Order: sequence, then structure tokens, then C-alpha cells
Amino acid sequence: MKAFNDLADFSTEEISALLELSNRLDEKPEPEALKGKVLSLLFLSPSLRTLASFQAAMTRLGGGSFVISPEMSIHGLETRPGIVMDGAAAEHIREAVPVIASYGDAIGIRAFAERRNLEHDLADTEFSSLIALIDTPYINMESASNHPCQSLADWKTLDDLGIPTKSGKFVLSWAYHPMSLPLAVPAASIHMAAMRGMDVTVLRPDGFELPEAIMDKARKAAEASGGSLCETDDRVQAMEGAHIIYAKSWSSTRHYGDKAADEELRRELVHWCIDEPWFDNARSDCRFMHCLPVRRGVVVSERVLDGLRSVVIHEARNRMLAQMAVLHQMLG
Ligand code: CP
Repeated sequence: MKAFNDLADFSTEEISALLELSNRLDEKPEPEALKGKVLSLLFLSPSLRTLASFQAAMTRLGGGSFVISPEMSIHGLETRPGIVMDGAAAEHIREAVPVIASYGDAIGIRAFAERRNLEHDLADTEFSSLIALIDTPYINMESASNHPCQSLADWKTLDDLGIPTKSGKFVLSWAYHPMSLPLAVPAASIHMAAMRGMDVTVLRPDGFELPEAIMDKARKAAEASGGSLCETDDRVQAMEGAHIIYAKSWSSTRHYGDKAADEELRRELVHWCIDEPWFDNARSDCRFMHCLPVRRGVVVSERVLDGLRSVVIHEARNRMLAQMAVLHQMLG
């Protein structure tokens, strides 16, 4: 495997093989599988799970890793193309990325969406320009429009819970958040669930419709797998018979890049906080998923997050196991 950038680059059989490998590595550890191998980790955006789970995964497989981020004691990092560097930053990303990559056998890169230009973010322009600088195997640790590591772990979580592939109902729900967040997780999660063959419903208020490019990609995956995809602002209809509600906030697509207009629109939507009454007409065993970090009492009520429906810690642990499989295939 030369790249782990998008679940769409893999067949369902290849995903199943990765998930089987992750289960095997959990049951029968291979502490020498990646002996002597090094994973370079470049975080241009913040993280807890991705940062810790990749380091833990490499250590469990006998390899090593190092982390570079702008907050560390490095020279100021310039990312803008075509810039005259007469300001504070002393190092450009064009040198930094190939240097960091040259110290490892593979590199993981995280670069969130800039959230200024929708077309630019949907095209994953920044991430593409970073990986164009290297010829090392690479892993997308969340770019503007994708988070394949999260999606692989979420697929495993759905399998672990015994959620049916065909006829399993997956609801991706927008939730209130005081800030406008990227589209990467919503895009990746509906594509994953559609590829898994599930009936996917996107539940969101007016103004937060997912872009057509994201819906189109998930729709094509659903057509290929026998699943389905629809979008609504009707919570009762969306939750009818749901196996899973996957909560996530994202930026208003009506006002993408316009912070003030986005804030004005979302101010009226604080009641989009997932709480027990949301589950009234879902399956009684409907589960709550979230990629974390999550704001308690804002995105989801404490009673749901701490209750039996919530599988967020299971999901987060699966990040490490899923990534162990990716690393094993990439470097083993
Ligand atoms: N879910 C996820 O990617 O978490 P972090 O942002 O903490 O890495």
C-alpha cells in the first residue's frame, strides 16, 4: 500500500481484509512486525486521538514515530505559496515536508480545511500540494474533505456492534456547535456507511445541506453496495428505525467562508443537541456515535454521552486498531 488517503481507493474486500487484520492484531499482537520502521507524523492542525493512536500503533508493532507540529519549538513554518519570507517564519513547508518525510518510511499528514473557499476545500487542494512534495508512502490523518482513518475505525465499530450492512439505518445528524467546523468527517462518514451498504440519512437544518460533490460520491458508493442515501430536515422521519445516529457539526454551506453569516444562522440552532427524546422512534438499541472531541451539553446531552447508547470510547480505541492494520500493510 503506497497511500491511505480515501476509502474510495479500496474495494469492499480490501476494507474487510484490513478490518480482519486489525482484529487479528488485537487478539494476537505482533510486537516485532515493524521493527526498525519509522513513521513521521506532521500535524498542521490539532489532535488528541490521531496523535496518540498513531504513536501507540507504531509502538505496539515494534516501530517508532516522531511528531512535528507548528506549536513545537521549531522555526516558524510558512505555508503560503509564492511568498517572500521576510516575516517571522523562517522555514517553508516546501522544504519541511520532504525533510520530515525523508526521516521515515511513511508519513502521516494532518491539515484541516481553511474554510474560506468551498471549491478549494472540496478539492483538497492543500493536502494534495503537500503530498506532491514527497514520494514516501503517506497517510491522510484528516484533510479538508476526508478523514479515512476515522472512517475505517467507524466501519470496524459498526461491525463490532453487529449493525447490519444491508438494511442497517445510519443517520448522520448535524449538531449545534459554537464554531463552524470542517466537512471532512461528515463527508467521510456518509461515504463509509454508504460503501458498507447501509441506508444513510443526512439530517440537517436549512443552510447546512452537504455539498453536491460530497452527496454524489456517497450516492455512487450506495448504488454500488445496494445501500441508499437521502437528506432531510425532519428529525422524526430521519430517526425512524435508526440503528445509529452519528453526530457532527459542520459549517453552513449556504454561507461557507462567511463567519458572521454562519454564526447568525447557527445561533438559532442551539436546540440541535442530541438528547434522549431524539431516540423516541429509533430502534430501542439505537447507538450514538461521534468521532470526538465532543462538547458535552452542546452537541449531545450528558445522559446520552454517558449512557448505554454511546460507543464513543469504543470508536476511539478502534482508531488505534484500524491504523495498526494500515501500518502493517504499508510497512510490514
Ligand atoms: N477524531 C479525531 O480525529 O480526533 P482528534 O482530532 O483528537 O485526532
